[in-house]
Amino acid sequence: MSEGSILEVRGLKKYFPQSGGRILRAVNGISFTLGQNEILGIVGESGCGKSTLGRLALRLIEPTEGQVFFRGQEITSLRRGALGPVRRAAQMVFQNPFASFNPKLRIAESLMEVCRYYGMSRVAGRDRIFALFADTGLSEDLLARWPRELSGGQLQRLAITRALLSDPALLVADEPLSALDVSIQAQLLNLLEDLRRNRSLSMLFISHDMTVVEYLCSRVAVMYLGQIMELASAEELFRRKLHPYTRSLVAAVPRIEGSPGTEAAALKGETPNPAAPIPGCVFASRCPEAEEHCRIEAPSLRDAGSQHLVSCHRVTM
Ligand SMILES: Nc1ncnc2c1ncn2[C@@H]1O[C@H](COP(=O)(O)OP(=O)(O)O)[C@@H](O)[C@H]1O
Ligand SMILES: [Mg+2]
Repeated sequence: MSEGSILEVRGLKKYFPQSGGRILRAVNGISFTLGQNEILGIVGESGCGKSTLGRLALRLIEPTEGQVFFRGQEITSLRRGALGPVRRAAQMVFQNPFASFNPKLRIAESLMEVCRYYGMSRVAGRDRIFALFADTGLSEDLLARWPRELSGGQLQRLAITRALLSDPALLVADEPLSALDVSIQAQLLNLLEDLRRNRSLSMLFISHDMTVVEYLCSRVAVMYLGQIMELASAEELFRRKLHPYTRSLVAAVPRIEGSPGTEAAALKGETPNPAAPIPGCVFASRCPEAEEHCRIEAPSLRDAGSQHLVSCHRVTM
């Protein structure tokens, strides 16, 4: 476990058995560390395994192989019953804020229920809720409201606030902005950045939006078909996009007219079936630069300097 890291995953795999004896490799050998006070972005197209990785990191699902360390403790070997302190210290925020509140409870009741769950008295829970509302810029008027009366932006701000009730050290946010309007997204991005800075929160920020990730994250891991293709600091990654897949993801971002041209063609074709075995590089079938060698031997994730990891035969180290 490296010094100062809050989360470390090693050789993590999650295979889902399918009908006909086939195996879907949703997460296929992922390792990284998340530093204290750091936001690590996990990006990639839909279906590449981001949500599965997020759930594995919190042990909401069991890995097929590999280990997860949270604050130095291996949580993958803990008994389920011993996970309480981990559940409290590591929280998840999901994509759809409309589905994340019980429609039959007023907001105050939903939040108090969580406080009770963490053993707070009524008074302590109330104080905690009011303090967090002040921090996250929420109006206390919302407490008396029903979820159906609120907007997506308000509900997501509330979902983030609810995740903070237990004063967690780690937040796994799975596409928390994807269901919201762009202007609301910007406000929530600022909120997340403030939380990182002021509460020494570490975050895994799952997204398919390269622009958001570039803005918010300290480091970024680019995933394709259950594997990491490239991992570097956000600054380094967006300056030197070493992997052809990263270049096509960035090229796929719509640009404002008159802005500089894109450096690579947006991706064509479909992701291969994750249940079909692939002998070489998983990206070779869609890679504009693939050579024969790429289809035969899988590359490994190597450091190309400046702690910039890339999994590509074409990159000379
Ligand atoms: N519980 C499950 N059972 C079977 N297959 C699953 C399950 N969860 C996810 N998958 C499959 O694993 C792959 C990765 O899914 P997911 O992690 O949701 O990707 P992402 O979040 O990047 O869109 C997909 O092919 C998906 O269909
Ligand atoms: Mg997902």
